[in-house]
Amino acid sequence: MKAVVYDHYGPPDVLRIEEVARPTPKDDEVLVKIHAATVNRLDVHTREANRKSGLFVSALSRLVSGVRAPRQRILGSEFAGEVVEKGATVTDFKLGDRVFGNTGLRFGTHAEFTCVRQSARITSMPTNASFEQAAAITDGAFNALWCLRVGNVNQGQTILVYGASGAIGTAGVQLARYLGARVTAVCGTKNLELVKSLGADRVIDYTKEDFTKDGKRYDAIFDAVGKNTFEHTKSSLKPGGVYLATDGFRNLLLHFWTQRFGDKKVRFQLPPVYAQRDLLLLKELVETGKFKPVIDRSYPMEQVIDAARYVETEQKTGNVVLRISA
Ligand SMILES: NC(=O)c1ccc[n+]([C@@H]2O[C@H](COP(=O)([O-])OP(=O)(O)OC[C@H]3O[C@@H](n4cnc5c(N)ncnc54)[C@H](OP(=O)(O)O)[C@@H]3O)[C@@H](O)[C@H]2O)c1
Repeated sequence: MKAVVYDHYGPPDVLRIEEVARPTPKDDEVLVKIHAATVNRLDVHTREANRKSGLFVSALSRLVSGVRAPRQRILGSEFAGEVVEKGATVTDFKLGDRVFGNTGLRFGTHAEFTCVRQSARITSMPTNASFEQAAAITDGAFNALWCLRVGNVNQGQTILVYGASGAIGTAGVQLARYLGARVTAVCGTKNLELVKSLGADRVIDYTKEDFTKDGKRYDAIFDAVGKNTFEHTKSSLKPGGVYLATDGFRNLLLHFWTQRFGDKKVRFQLPPVYAQRDLLLLKELVETGKFKPVIDRSYPMEQVIDAARYVETEQKTGNVVLRISA
Protein backbone atom coordinates (compact mmCIF):
# COMPACT_ATOMS: atom_id res chain seq x y z
CA MET A 1 0.00 0.00 0.00
CA LYS A 2 0.99 3.64 -0.32
CA ALA A 3 1.84 5.49 2.88
CA VAL A 4 3.40 8.76 3.94
CA VAL A 5 6.52 7.80 5.90
CA TYR A 6 9.38 9.56 7.68
CA ASP A 7 12.62 8.16 9.06
CA HIS A 8 14.08 11.22 10.78
CA TYR A 9 12.62 13.94 12.96
CA GLY A 10 12.57 17.25 11.14
CA PRO A 11 10.70 19.69 8.88
CA PRO A 12 7.87 18.70 6.49
CA ASP A 13 10.43 17.67 3.80
CA VAL A 14 11.28 14.54 5.80
CA LEU A 15 7.90 13.16 4.67
CA ARG A 16 7.68 11.06 1.52
CA ILE A 17 5.31 8.60 -0.07
CA GLU A 18 6.50 4.99 -0.13
CA GLU A 19 5.13 1.53 -0.93
CA VAL A 20 4.98 -0.39 2.35
CA ALA A 21 3.50 -3.71 3.41
CA ARG A 22 -0.25 -3.64 4.00
CA PRO A 23 -0.94 -4.49 7.66
CA THR A 24 -2.81 -7.68 8.58
CA PRO A 25 -5.48 -7.41 11.29
CA LYS A 26 -4.99 -9.37 14.51
CA ASP A 27 -7.93 -11.37 15.90
CA ASP A 28 -9.51 -8.34 17.59
CA GLU A 29 -8.73 -5.81 14.86
CA VAL A 30 -10.36 -4.50 11.72
CA LEU A 31 -8.47 -3.42 8.62
CA VAL A 32 -9.72 -0.01 7.53
CA LYS A 33 -9.31 1.25 3.99
CA ILE A 34 -8.74 4.93 4.69
CA HIS A 35 -10.54 7.52 2.59
CA ALA A 36 -9.58 10.59 4.59
CA ALA A 37 -7.30 11.55 7.48
CA THR A 38 -6.13 14.89 8.84
CA VAL A 39 -2.79 16.60 9.30
CA ASN A 40 -2.89 18.13 12.78
CA ARG A 41 -0.68 19.70 15.41
CA LEU A 42 0.02 16.31 17.01
CA ASP A 43 1.52 15.14 13.69
CA VAL A 44 3.60 18.32 13.46
CA HIS A 45 4.87 18.14 17.05
CA THR A 46 5.70 14.44 16.76
CA ARG A 47 7.43 14.79 13.39
CA GLU A 48 9.77 17.45 14.72
CA ALA A 49 10.16 15.74 18.14
CA ASN A 50 8.62 18.81 19.84
CA ARG A 51 11.88 20.69 19.36
CA LYS A 52 10.16 24.09 19.57
CA SER A 53 9.06 23.31 23.13
CA GLY A 54 12.62 23.12 24.43
CA LEU A 55 15.16 20.40 25.17
CA PHE A 56 13.32 18.80 28.07
CA VAL A 57 9.99 18.40 26.26
CA SER A 58 11.81 17.28 23.11
CA ALA A 59 13.62 14.56 25.10
CA LEU A 60 10.30 13.39 26.55
CA SER A 61 8.79 13.38 23.08
CA ARG A 62 11.62 11.17 21.79
CA LEU A 63 11.17 8.79 24.72
CA VAL A 64 7.59 8.31 23.57
CA SER A 65 8.15 8.23 19.79
CA GLY A 66 11.66 6.77 19.49
CA VAL A 67 14.91 8.21 20.83
CA ARG A 68 16.99 8.40 17.66
CA ALA A 69 14.36 7.94 15.00
CA PRO A 70 10.60 7.50 14.96
CA ARG A 71 9.51 3.96 15.79
CA GLN A 72 6.21 4.50 13.95
CA ARG A 73 7.13 5.68 10.46
CA ILE A 74 3.56 6.61 9.53
CA LEU A 75 1.92 9.65 11.15
CA GLY A 76 -1.80 10.53 11.20
CA SER A 77 -4.23 9.76 14.00
CA GLU A 78 -7.67 10.71 12.69
CA PHE A 79 -9.29 8.59 10.01
CA ALA A 80 -12.50 7.80 8.16
CA GLY A 81 -12.88 4.84 5.83
CA GLU A 82 -14.34 1.40 5.28
CA VAL A 83 -13.82 -1.94 7.01
CA VAL A 84 -12.33 -4.28 4.39
CA GLU A 85 -11.09 -7.17 6.55
CA LYS A 86 -11.56 -8.29 10.13
CA GLY A 87 -9.96 -10.57 12.69
CA ALA A 88 -11.54 -13.80 13.92
CA THR A 89 -13.03 -12.37 17.12
CA VAL A 90 -14.42 -9.10 15.73
CA THR A 91 -18.17 -8.89 16.25
CA ASP A 92 -18.84 -5.13 16.34
CA PHE A 93 -18.12 -4.46 12.67
CA LYS A 94 -18.84 -6.07 9.32
CA LEU A 95 -17.14 -5.72 5.98
CA GLY A 96 -18.17 -2.53 4.21
CA ASP A 97 -18.99 -0.58 7.41
CA ARG A 98 -18.12 3.10 7.11
CA VAL A 99 -16.11 3.93 10.21
CA PHE A 100 -14.20 6.82 11.75
CA GLY A 101 -12.02 7.36 14.77
CA ASN A 102 -8.65 8.26 16.18
CA THR A 103 -5.60 6.05 16.72
CA GLY A 104 -3.92 8.58 19.05
CA LEU A 105 -0.21 8.03 19.59
CA ARG A 106 -0.34 4.75 17.66
CA PHE A 107 -0.70 6.93 14.53
CA GLY A 108 -0.64 5.09 11.16
CA THR A 109 -3.51 6.77 9.30
CA HIS A 110 -1.52 8.61 6.63
CA ALA A 111 -1.72 5.39 4.65
CA GLU A 112 -4.15 3.53 2.43
CA PHE A 113 -4.90 1.00 5.18
CA THR A 114 -4.56 0.77 8.93
CA CYS A 115 -5.53 -1.78 11.60
CA VAL A 116 -7.62 -0.72 14.60
CA ARG A 117 -8.77 -2.78 17.60
CA GLN A 118 -12.55 -3.04 17.71
CA SER A 119 -12.54 -1.81 21.32
CA ALA A 120 -10.40 1.24 20.46
CA ARG A 121 -11.63 4.66 19.33
CA ILE A 122 -13.49 3.51 16.26
CA THR A 123 -17.20 3.48 15.47
CA SER A 124 -19.58 3.79 12.56
CA MET A 125 -19.60 7.17 10.82
CA PRO A 126 -22.33 9.71 11.52
CA THR A 127 -25.02 9.12 8.90
CA ASN A 128 -24.87 12.76 7.80
CA ALA A 129 -21.09 13.07 7.41
CA SER A 130 -18.81 12.60 4.41
CA PHE A 131 -15.47 10.79 4.82
CA GLU A 132 -13.67 14.15 4.91
CA GLN A 133 -16.00 15.54 7.58
CA ALA A 134 -15.84 12.37 9.67
CA ALA A 135 -12.04 12.38 9.59
CA ALA A 136 -12.01 15.89 11.08
CA ILE A 137 -14.34 15.25 14.03
CA THR A 138 -12.10 13.90 16.76
CA ASP A 139 -8.78 15.67 17.24
CA GLY A 140 -9.89 19.12 18.34
CA ALA A 141 -13.01 17.74 20.00
CA PHE A 142 -11.18 15.12 22.10
CA ASN A 143 -8.73 17.77 23.30
CA ALA A 144 -11.52 20.26 24.04
CA LEU A 145 -13.73 17.69 25.77
CA TRP A 146 -10.84 16.67 27.99
CA CYS A 147 -10.08 20.25 29.00
CA LEU A 148 -13.74 21.13 29.63
CA ARG A 149 -14.14 18.03 31.80
CA VAL A 150 -10.96 18.68 33.73
CA GLY A 151 -12.26 22.23 34.33
CA ASN A 152 -15.68 20.91 35.34
CA VAL A 153 -17.36 23.32 32.91
CA ASN A 154 -21.12 22.94 33.09
CA GLN A 155 -24.60 24.42 32.94
CA GLY A 156 -24.88 28.14 33.57
CA GLN A 157 -21.15 28.83 33.83
CA THR A 158 -19.38 31.51 31.84
CA ILE A 159 -16.37 30.51 29.76
CA LEU A 160 -14.03 32.46 27.52
CA VAL A 161 -12.46 30.44 24.71
CA TYR A 162 -9.22 32.08 23.56
CA GLY A 163 -8.09 30.95 20.08
CA ALA A 164 -11.63 29.93 19.17
CA SER A 165 -10.84 29.39 15.49
CA GLY A 166 -8.34 26.51 15.67
CA ALA A 167 -9.11 22.78 15.76
CA ILE A 168 -9.47 22.74 19.54
CA GLY A 169 -11.07 26.20 19.68
CA THR A 170 -13.85 25.52 17.14
CA ALA A 171 -14.64 22.30 18.99
CA GLY A 172 -14.34 24.02 22.38
CA VAL A 173 -16.94 26.67 21.52
CA GLN A 174 -19.45 24.04 20.37
CA LEU A 175 -18.84 21.62 23.24
CA ALA A 176 -18.95 24.33 25.92
CA ARG A 177 -22.34 25.34 24.49
CA TYR A 178 -23.44 21.71 24.51
CA LEU A 179 -22.46 21.51 28.22
CA GLY A 180 -24.68 24.51 28.90
CA ALA A 181 -22.06 27.22 29.41
CA ARG A 182 -22.33 30.80 28.14
CA VAL A 183 -19.48 31.25 25.70
CA THR A 184 -17.39 34.30 24.88
CA ALA A 185 -15.02 33.47 22.03
CA VAL A 186 -11.83 35.30 21.08
CA CYS A 187 -10.34 35.04 17.58
CA GLY A 188 -8.88 37.08 14.72
CA THR A 189 -10.97 39.30 12.41
CA LYS A 190 -11.37 36.84 9.53
CA ASN A 191 -12.88 34.16 11.77
CA LEU A 192 -15.42 36.25 13.71
CA GLU A 193 -18.44 35.20 11.61
CA LEU A 194 -17.49 31.54 11.63
CA VAL A 195 -17.01 31.45 15.39
CA LYS A 196 -20.31 33.23 15.96
CA SER A 197 -22.01 30.64 13.73
CA LEU A 198 -20.63 27.87 15.99
CA GLY A 199 -22.77 29.18 18.84
CA ALA A 200 -20.64 31.71 20.70
CA ASP A 201 -22.82 34.16 22.64
CA ARG A 202 -20.25 36.89 22.14
CA VAL A 203 -17.13 37.19 19.98
CA ILE A 204 -14.11 39.41 20.55
CA ASP A 205 -11.51 40.28 17.92
CA TYR A 206 -8.15 40.04 19.67
CA THR A 207 -6.54 42.28 17.06
CA LYS A 208 -8.82 45.14 18.18
CA GLU A 209 -9.60 44.45 21.82
CA ASP A 210 -7.86 42.99 24.86
CA PHE A 211 -10.54 41.04 26.75
CA THR A 212 -8.60 41.36 30.00
CA LYS A 213 -9.28 45.11 29.96
CA ASP A 214 -13.09 45.12 29.69
CA GLY A 215 -13.77 44.25 33.36
CA LYS A 216 -15.72 41.03 32.63
CA ARG A 217 -15.04 37.91 34.73
CA TYR A 218 -15.43 34.23 33.78
CA ASP A 219 -15.70 30.92 35.61
CA ALA A 220 -13.24 29.44 33.10
CA ILE A 221 -10.78 30.73 30.53
CA PHE A 222 -9.90 28.07 27.98
CA ASP A 223 -6.67 28.88 26.15
CA ALA A 224 -7.42 26.63 23.20
CA VAL A 225 -4.40 27.69 21.18
CA GLY A 226 -1.57 28.10 23.69
CA LYS A 227 -1.07 31.78 22.86
CA ASN A 228 -2.05 33.29 26.20
CA THR A 229 -0.92 32.94 29.82
CA PHE A 230 -2.44 32.46 33.24
CA GLU A 231 -0.67 35.58 34.47
CA HIS A 232 -2.13 37.76 31.71
CA THR A 233 -5.69 36.46 32.07
CA LYS A 234 -5.92 35.85 35.83
CA SER A 235 -7.69 39.16 36.54
CA SER A 236 -10.51 38.06 34.17
CA LEU A 237 -11.25 34.94 36.24
CA LYS A 238 -13.88 34.98 38.98
CA PRO A 239 -12.70 33.88 42.44
CA GLY A 240 -12.28 30.09 42.23
CA GLY A 241 -12.08 30.28 38.42
CA VAL A 242 -9.96 27.96 36.26
CA TYR A 243 -7.52 28.57 33.42
CA LEU A 244 -7.59 25.58 31.06
CA ALA A 245 -4.37 25.08 29.13
CA THR A 246 -3.69 23.01 26.01
CA ASP A 247 0.04 23.54 25.73
CA GLY A 248 3.24 24.51 27.51
CA PHE A 249 5.41 22.84 30.09
CA ARG A 250 5.06 25.97 32.23
CA ASN A 251 1.33 25.31 32.54
CA LEU A 252 2.08 21.86 33.91
CA LEU A 253 4.18 23.44 36.68
CA LEU A 254 1.44 26.04 37.31
CA HIS A 255 -1.12 23.23 37.52
CA PHE A 256 0.70 21.80 40.54
CA TRP A 257 1.58 25.21 42.03
CA THR A 258 -1.99 26.55 41.92
CA GLN A 259 -3.34 23.34 43.41
CA ARG A 260 -1.70 24.47 46.65
CA PHE A 261 -1.59 28.26 46.35
CA GLY A 262 -4.18 30.88 45.35
CA ASP A 263 -7.89 30.46 44.66
CA LYS A 264 -7.59 30.62 40.84
CA LYS A 265 -6.37 27.39 39.34
CA VAL A 266 -4.49 26.30 36.23
CA ARG A 267 -5.68 22.93 34.97
CA PHE A 268 -3.39 21.11 32.55
CA GLN A 269 -3.70 17.44 33.13
CA LEU A 270 -1.58 14.91 31.28
CA PRO A 271 -1.92 12.49 29.73
CA PRO A 272 -5.36 13.16 28.28
CA VAL A 273 -7.60 10.10 28.28
CA TYR A 274 -10.00 9.59 25.40
CA ALA A 275 -12.38 6.68 25.28
CA GLN A 276 -14.69 5.08 22.73
CA ARG A 277 -17.65 6.63 24.60
CA ASP A 278 -16.29 10.10 23.68
CA LEU A 279 -16.38 9.06 20.05
CA LEU A 280 -19.96 7.84 20.43
CA LEU A 281 -20.92 11.16 22.01
CA LEU A 282 -19.35 13.11 19.14
CA LYS A 283 -21.09 10.92 16.58
CA GLU A 284 -24.42 11.64 18.26
CA LEU A 285 -23.72 15.38 18.43
CA VAL A 286 -22.88 15.45 14.71
CA GLU A 287 -26.02 13.49 13.83
CA THR A 288 -28.21 15.81 15.92
CA GLY A 289 -26.61 18.93 14.46
CA LYS A 290 -25.01 20.02 17.75
CA PHE A 291 -21.44 19.65 16.52
CA LYS A 292 -19.86 20.22 13.16
CA PRO A 293 -16.22 19.73 12.28
CA VAL A 294 -14.73 22.84 10.72
CA ILE A 295 -12.57 22.12 7.67
CA ASP A 296 -10.20 24.74 6.35
CA ARG A 297 -8.41 22.95 3.49
CA SER A 298 -8.25 19.49 1.98
CA TYR A 299 -5.13 18.12 0.23
CA PRO A 300 -4.55 14.93 -1.74
CA MET A 301 -2.08 12.54 -0.07
CA GLU A 302 0.55 13.44 -2.67
CA GLN A 303 0.59 17.01 -1.30
CA VAL A 304 1.17 16.00 2.30
CA ILE A 305 4.24 18.25 2.57
CA ASP A 306 2.19 21.30 1.57
CA ALA A 307 -0.50 20.28 4.06
CA ALA A 308 2.09 19.92 6.84
CA ARG A 309 3.63 23.29 5.98
CA TYR A 310 0.22 24.92 6.19
CA VAL A 311 -0.55 23.36 9.59
CA GLU A 312 2.85 24.61 10.79
CA THR A 313 1.85 28.22 10.07
CA GLU A 314 -0.40 27.88 13.16
CA GLN A 315 -3.01 29.81 11.16
CA LYS A 316 -5.35 27.06 10.03
CA THR A 317 -9.03 27.53 10.76
CA GLY A 318 -10.31 24.28 12.27
CA ASN A 319 -8.88 21.24 10.50
CA VAL A 320 -6.79 20.24 7.48
CA VAL A 321 -7.89 17.07 5.72
CA LEU A 322 -5.71 14.61 3.79
CA ARG A 323 -7.56 12.70 1.05
CA ILE A 324 -6.14 9.18 0.92
CA SER A 325 -8.40 6.79 -0.90
CA ALA A 326 -6.64 4.66 -3.54
N1 LIG B 1 -4.44 19.39 17.91
C1 LIG B 1 -3.62 18.55 18.54
O1 LIG B 1 -3.61 17.35 18.31
C2 LIG B 1 -2.69 19.05 19.59
C3 LIG B 1 -1.87 18.15 20.24
C4 LIG B 1 -1.03 18.63 21.22
C5 LIG B 1 -1.00 19.97 21.53
N2 LIG B 1 -1.80 20.82 20.86
C6 LIG B 1 -1.72 22.23 21.19
O2 LIG B 1 -3.00 22.81 21.32
C7 LIG B 1 -2.98 24.13 20.78
C8 LIG B 1 -4.09 24.28 19.76
O3 LIG B 1 -3.99 23.32 18.75
P1 LIG B 1 -4.93 23.43 17.48
O4 LIG B 1 -4.65 22.25 16.64
O5 LIG B 1 -6.30 23.71 17.89
O6 LIG B 1 -4.33 24.76 16.83
P2 LIG B 1 -4.53 25.33 15.37
O7 LIG B 1 -5.75 24.73 14.76
O8 LIG B 1 -3.24 25.22 14.64
O9 LIG B 1 -4.80 26.88 15.70
C9 LIG B 1 -4.78 27.76 14.65
C10 LIG B 1 -5.62 28.97 15.03
O10 LIG B 1 -4.94 29.72 16.02
C11 LIG B 1 -5.36 31.06 15.91
N3 LIG B 1 -4.31 31.94 16.42
C12 LIG B 1 -3.07 32.07 15.94
N4 LIG B 1 -2.40 32.99 16.68
C13 LIG B 1 -3.27 33.43 17.63
C14 LIG B 1 -3.18 34.37 18.70
N5 LIG B 1 -2.05 35.04 18.94
N6 LIG B 1 -4.25 34.55 19.48
C15 LIG B 1 -5.38 33.87 19.27
N7 LIG B 1 -5.54 32.97 18.28
C16 LIG B 1 -4.49 32.75 17.47
C17 LIG B 1 -5.58 31.28 14.42
O11 LIG B 1 -6.77 32.00 14.26
P3 LIG B 1 -6.96 33.57 14.06
O12 LIG B 1 -6.63 33.85 12.63
O13 LIG B 1 -8.41 33.73 14.37
O14 LIG B 1 -6.03 34.21 14.99
C18 LIG B 1 -5.83 29.89 13.87
O15 LIG B 1 -7.17 29.73 13.46
C19 LIG B 1 -1.59 24.35 20.21
O16 LIG B 1 -0.82 25.04 21.16
C20 LIG B 1 -1.07 22.97 20.03
O17 LIG B 1 0.34 22.93 20.12
C21 LIG B 1 -2.63 20.41 19.89
